[in-house]
Amino acid sequence: MLDLFWLLAPIAVAALAAFYFVFGSFLYGAGYQPTFRSSVLRMLDLARVGPGDCLYDLGAGTGAILFRAARRHHARVVGVEIEPFRYLILELRRLVGGPRDQVRILWKNLFDIDLSEATVVALFLWPDAMRRLRPKLEAELRPGTRVVSHWHEMPGWRPREYDPRTRVYLYLWNGRETVGPEPFPPEGPEGPASGGGEDRPFPSAAPPSAPRT
Ligand SMILES: C[S@@+](CC[C@H](N)C(=O)[O-])C[C@H]1O[C@@H](n2cnc3c(N)ncnc32)[C@H](O)[C@@H]1O
Repeated sequence: MLDLFWLLAPIAVAALAAFYFVFGSFLYGAGYQPTFRSSVLRMLDLARVGPGDCLYDLGAGTGAILFRAARRHHARVVGVEIEPFRYLILELRRLVGGPRDQVRILWKNLFDIDLSEATVVALFLWPDAMRRLRPKLEAELRPGTRVVSHWHEMPGWRPREYDPRTRVYLYLWNGRETVGPEPFPPEGPEGPASGGGEDRPFPSAAPPSAPRT
């Protein structure tokens, strides 16, 4: 009987841990699902992430967006993750693969952190979390901050751009509202700019003309 207990106990613990890994964060705003590579590339490209940026990945998962933004776009990044196993994976990736100085990982609830430092915010959350996050973003983001969301749109915000293939929404916050679509980037004699986002800095959003009501 005791032998059976010692056989089953580790299996039960492993099953519980796996269950928590997948379903634990359902309570907080989104379960875990890795972001497709094509969507990661599109998010960073649409937001024109570059070396001058500070990207906050809210619900960083295992770091697909985060580490690409740091390594390839040379941005400073902050990953926020509430689930402890994924937080440990992120810390491990930071320590082993780096770049350490550019990456900060927070084991926190994304609703409890200050976002005023961000120039880009990356999201892959569920609709209810998006709805709850909106007033926080509107209160804390600085004018010119870009918000990129995979799969779900931000209710009530006008996207600047939307890529239906990868389901990526880009929003541009001007301190008062989101700035809608415009011909962008401006086309020169050689046609539209091309290449990686880091080569094409994002134009700053128009400053608000009146105080927020
Ligand atoms: C769909 S996954 C994002 C995956 C990530 N982009 C990647 O490619 O690995 C959503 C993540 O948000 C995390 N999450 C959900 N609610 C959260 C909250 N309130 N605070 C911080 N992280 C949260 C979940 O644990 C999960 O890892």
